[in-house]
Amino acid sequence: MENSPMMQKAQALVRDCVDLPTIPTVAAKILKLLNSFDAEMDTIVDMILSDQVLAARVIKMVNSPLYRPRHEINSVRHALTYLGFRHIREIVMTCSIIDVFRDKNGAFDIKTFWEHSLGVGIVARIIAQRIRFPEIEKAYLAGIVHDIGEVFLSYYMKETLQEILDLIASEPLRWIASEERLIGTTHCHIGLCIANKWNFPQEYCEVIEHHHAPREAPLEPLLAAIINLADLFCSVRGLDYGGREWISFNLAEEEGWRIIEDFTPNRLNFDAEKFCFELDDRVPEIREMVTYIFVGT
Ligand SMILES: [Fe+2]
Ligand SMILES: [Fe+2]
Repeated sequence: MENSPMMQKAQALVRDCVDLPTIPTVAAKILKLLNSFDAEMDTIVDMILSDQVLAARVIKMVNSPLYRPRHEINSVRHALTYLGFRHIREIVMTCSIIDVFRDKNGAFDIKTFWEHSLGVGIVARIIAQRIRFPEIEKAYLAGIVHDIGEVFLSYYMKETLQEILDLIASEPLRWIASEERLIGTTHCHIGLCIANKWNFPQEYCEVIEHHHAPREAPLEPLLAAIINLADLFCSVRGLDYGGREWISFNLAEEEGWRIIEDFTPNRLNFDAEKFCFELDDRVPEIREMVTYIFVGT
């Protein structure tokens, strides 16, 4: 993809964007720590406390409906003990990425974007658990960042994104095909350029680049497949951001599902149809969670 015309177009768009935000230092450090087994709680607490806005948001999120503590948690250290190391890293990453684009106005409501991204993260985590994918936290985080290229389109190419939304509404096209037709590149290519700029670890870059064509992911096609399916499940359950693309799908024909079948000996434990219905219960929860995060910020 590196030298393809679509990649070149995406590189030019990102390069010419003068006010592209940088990822908070704390988030970048914590992403790197994900791959290290000797990270200590004190290090993480200190990192979070070095950014007071982040610390406040982390405490707010720990008290949210998603984590449901019995008593209110009011310190970062207490949050860490309550949730454990892994969940804290998830929360810090989610809060940091949300903060990156917090003050901007885009073509779509950023809250609906987070309903989608948080939804994909949560659904990816459930799929990962069901098929016994060993890195559940990675699946969640990959879900959180997978559509980062869309935020770029929403903020920096508002009118074009509106044309994409109009095209999807009028023709039976998938979102990505409309992007290709109207801008000559996609949110996957643009997202990859941003992820490279922010020094995201390779596995997240790969998901951002290939979540609509997971078979092309060279390192971890299974992770890309999990995100691909989580994305479809969320879209059919209305967790999208405005564009009602052509989303009816036959699971057996989906590339993501076939990869899961190829890679996972326990696939029979995963009843996709039943799972789709189970998601109905999670959707209001995810919406409630995002509203909770955004109220008063
Ligand atoms: Fe996408
Ligand atoms: Fe998506």
